[in-house]
Amino acid sequence: MTVEIAARHSRSEITGYPNYHQVSDLGVVQFRHSYDDDLLGHILKRALEIKEMHADKRQLNLNYIRDAASHIPEINDLLHSPRRMEVAEKLSGTRLEPYPISIISSIITFTSARPEDGAITWHADGVPVTELIPLSIIDPQGGELELYRGSADEGLYRAHSGEEIPQDRIISIQHREGFSVLGQLMRLMHRVRPMTRGYRITLNLNFRSAEKPFIDDNTMCYLAADNPDFEWQNAYIEDVKARQLPAYLRSISAASP
Ligand SMILES: [Fe+2]
Repeated sequence: MTVEIAARHSRSEITGYPNYHQVSDLGVVQFRHSYDDDLLGHILKRALEIKEMHADKRQLNLNYIRDAASHIPEINDLLHSPRRMEVAEKLSGTRLEPYPISIISSIITFTSARPEDGAITWHADGVPVTELIPLSIIDPQGGELELYRGSADEGLYRAHSGEEIPQDRIISIQHREGFSVLGQLMRLMHRVRPMTRGYRITLNLNFRSAEKPFIDDNTMCYLAADNPDFEWQNAYIEDVKARQLPAYLRSISAASP
């Protein structure tokens, strides 16, 4: 399987040191995808139709449709595509599975200079691994994915103190139609550079480790900030009981001397 790579940075290269809380050394990789244009076009058309009713901006200046596959069932063709999983596993170097909590397993984000949209501010993801698939990019100025070189904890301290993050500490990736960005953005500080012109609509499909599903930063508080109805809490707790906890106990018993 040959995949055309446009940009690639390992996680240890970005942070500057080896990481423990990670699914692999995947940092970020931009690659040419092979998804069906008609399918992506349909998802885009439906996203625009339901945006007003289903997109909300609740935190971090991010306007997005939650649980996108429930509103646009054709997204499931991508979410569960064996070929897509195969490429993601090859690029990340580990076994993955689609993220199980439906409110965040597939979302559609709207980035622009308009006040109802926005560009997500400096943060680190709750989900371990994400694939960003641009559905439409129109006349962009700004809108690049920017990653902080160094520790996310240090970066977030600097950003939240009001410090301007210097350019030499930023890795910038310009989104391109036809190319996905696969990133392990948990505990990597990143943002979308504010857009001063243009528009981007992006399908985000999330993953976690199949063997270590407990490696995850989606606390209930973080999820609730975006989804305050708590309708997802039973699915969350069931997942901890059935998948995360057994895998965690196996991993610590395998690691003990
Ligand atoms: Fe993010």
